[in-house]
Order: sequence, then structure tokens, then C-alpha cells
Amino acid sequence: MKRAQEMSIVVLLVSLLLSFHISECSFVCHPKDKKALLEIKADMNNNNASTFSNWNPETDCCFWSNTVCDENGRVVMFIINDADDVVGRLSPAVGDLRYLQALRLWNLPNLTGSIPSTIAKLTRLQIFEITSNNMDGPIPDVFGHLKSLQQLFLVSNKFSGSIPSSLSLPSKLVYLELSGNNLTGPVPATFGSFKSNLTSLKLYDNQLSGPIPKALGAAKIQTLDLSNNHLSGDASFLFGSDFLYNISLSNNKFKFDFSNVDLPQGLVGLNIAHNKIYGSLPKQLGQLSLQSIDVSYNNLCGKIPTGRRLKMFSSALFSHNKCLCGVPLPACK
Ligand SMILES: *[C@@H]1O[C@H](CO)[C@@H](O)[C@H](O)[C@H]1NC(C)=O
Ligand SMILES: *[C@@H]1O[C@H](CO)[C@@H](O)[C@H](O)[C@H]1NC(C)=O
Ligand SMILES: *[C@@H]1O[C@H](CO)[C@@H](O)[C@H](O)[C@H]1NC(C)=O
Ligand SMILES: *[C@@H]1O[C@H](CO)[C@@H](O)[C@H](O)[C@H]1NC(C)=O
Ligand SMILES: *[C@@H]1O[C@H](CO)[C@@H](O)[C@H](O)[C@H]1NC(C)=O
Repeated sequence: MKRAQEMSIVVLLVSLLLSFHISECSFVCHPKDKKALLEIKADMNNNNASTFSNWNPETDCCFWSNTVCDENGRVVMFIINDADDVVGRLSPAVGDLRYLQALRLWNLPNLTGSIPSTIAKLTRLQIFEITSNNMDGPIPDVFGHLKSLQQLFLVSNKFSGSIPSSLSLPSKLVYLELSGNNLTGPVPATFGSFKSNLTSLKLYDNQLSGPIPKALGAAKIQTLDLSNNHLSGDASFLFGSDFLYNISLSNNKFKFDFSNVDLPQGLVGLNIAHNKIYGSLPKQLGQLSLQSIDVSYNNLCGKIPTGRRLKMFSSALFSHNKCLCGVPLPACK
């Protein structure tokens, strides 16, 4: 799935690049963008990073590494990855790159500080990725302004505080991932009514708590991963969506009766392990083309449904329940 996401970023980046005919002409950097880039460099270049070695104020910024301009000399992409000599923070001046469409900062272990709220000015931004750095602080609640946003990954940093409710507003948002941070509080009530047709929502490895909004079951999400949080209450309504393809709710405190949950036909991945889910496994489970399942460590009971695939999975994936029985577990008494 990580690979699929990476592919979708690459596809979008390549289509952006092609639209700028970068090889055909030479563009002259807009002075406002050059000024912003030099401020960004000043805040991120505390260790003479090779990334910035050709960011010379005397030269055209459209030829600097890690940037791409459009034909008007406006910077449309700013991307840095895999550089541990980038030391410092993301300057608020990033908000002055008004034409930016892709901003990716990825695998920069010495990038610290918080996300500047000036990103609210980046109304053309389509891809925003801050992954595997050491940034912290809250995620600014400015997403109502980011009208072009399609893919948002704020992953594996130390972001804290609650999830901004404005994340439901960008009308083209397809991928939303905030996993691997220190986010607390609930899944916002607004997540029941995304303005876009969001296909992937991943909030795993955080400290989220409380019940999840009921309306989330009406979203057309295909991949949903809420695992490794402290979420509680009912989650059975999530299975009401025919679009659901892969769902992980593992390692939470969800508590509901699984017996009569109506599972979507297209479900291929189901992980509800380590919760307080009770009742029996729905009969239909035997008819699905599941590629992965884990229902272990719950309070489930009764006979495991027979059918196409369930018998092929390891018994461990059904173990530590109240009284589940039948293949692949020992026979029912
Ligand atoms: C910065 O790095 C360049 C080459 O990578 C080197 O020529 C220059 O002396 C360095 N400057 C400082 C202040 O370390
Ligand atoms: C940058 O990060 C690397 C790897 O985490 C670390 O070894 C190095 O000391 C850091 N450099 C600076 C200047 O902080
Ligand atoms: C997460 O936040 C808590 C307090 O809010 C803090 O004690 C803990 O160190 C944080 N964890 C990380 C990985 O930043
Ligand atoms: C969401 O998808 C439906 C079709 O499934 C389409 O009619 C609608 O325009 C889409 N909405 C957005 C905001 O893309
Ligand atoms: C479903 O998602 C989990 C993690 O969220 C992943 O490990 C698994 O491979 C996925 N299954 C499919 C069939 O995509």
C-alpha cells in the first residue's frame, strides 16, 4: 500500500512536470520566489548542506537544485529527500511561494520545528508531504484555504495536539495520512462529511481517543487504517460502505457486536485484533475473497464460518477470543 501511494505521488508529480515543459526553455526566476527560497535556505542550512550548494543569490533560482519553475519563473515544486545535512526548520517564508503545487520534505532527520501556518497561502498546492523528519508542534488548522490539495501526508514526525477539523474541506483530497505521530483527541466530527471523495484515510500509530463519528461510515473510503490508538465505542457502521476494501482497527478499545455486521463484498483486508469486540463472526465472512484477516484478542464466540478461504489462515489470527471454534481452530464442542 505504501508502494501504491508512492506511485500515485509519482504519477501526479510526473504529470505536473510534463505540464511545465521544463527542458524546452530557460525561465527567469521571479524575484519574490527567489527571496522566499533564500529565506528558506537560511533557516534550513545550518550545516552547509549539499542540497543548497548551488543556491547562489547571483544565479537564476529556476536552475537551483530541488526546485522546478513554470514558464513564468514561478516556483511550482520544492522537494528535498534523504539528506541528513539539512539542519534547521521550515521557514514561514514557504507561504510566499504562492505558485507551489508540490511540497515534499522527506527523510530529513535534522529537520525540526513546526509547520508554519503561512502554508494557508498555498492555494495551488496539490501534494503536501512531510514524512520521516523530526518536526513537532500542532498541525495548523488552515486546510480550508488549501483548495487544490489532493494528497496530504504528515507522517512519522512528532506532531501533537488534535486533528484539525478543516481537513474535511479540500474538495479534491484523495489521500490523507497522519500516521506515526503523537496526535491526541478525537477523530473530528467533520470527518463524516468530506467535501471530496477521499479514498484513503490512515491515522494509525497515534494517541487518538473517544468514539469515531458515525457519519464516517457514509464516506466512500477504500482504505481505512485507525490501528494503534485508544479509540473506543462502536465501529460497526464503518462496514456499511460498499467501497471498503481494506480496514484495520487493531489495537484500540472498540466494543461492539460483530454478529450481524453486513460486510462489503469487495473486502480483502480485515484486521480487528486487540479490541473488545463480541458476538460471533458474520456468516458472510466465509464468502469473501479475503487476502488477510486478524480477529485475534477479542471477545468473539461461536463457530468460524466455513467457505472459501478462512480455513487457509493461521489459527493464531483467530486465537485469544472468548470461545471461537471450528477450522482453523479446534472443533466446536
Ligand atoms: C561548504 O561546503 C563546500 C563544499 O561542499 C565547501 O567548499 C565550503 O568550504 C563549505 N563551507 C563551510 C563554511 O563549511
Ligand atoms: C543529522 O542526523 C544524523 C542522523 O540522524 C546525525 O547522525 C547527525 O549528527 C545529524 N547532524 C547534525 C548536524 O545535527
Ligand atoms: C507524546 O506526547 C507526550 C505528552 O503529550 C509526551 O510525554 C511523549 O514524549 C510524546 N511522545 C513522542 C514520541 O513525542
Ligand atoms: C464523487 O464521486 C461521485 C461519483 O461516485 C461524483 O459524482 C462526484 O462528483 C464526486 N465528487 C467529487 C467532489 O469529486
Ligand atoms: C491492508 O492494510 C494493511 C495495513 O494497513 C496491510 O498490511 C495489508 O497488506 C493490506 N492488505 C491489502 C490486501 O491491501
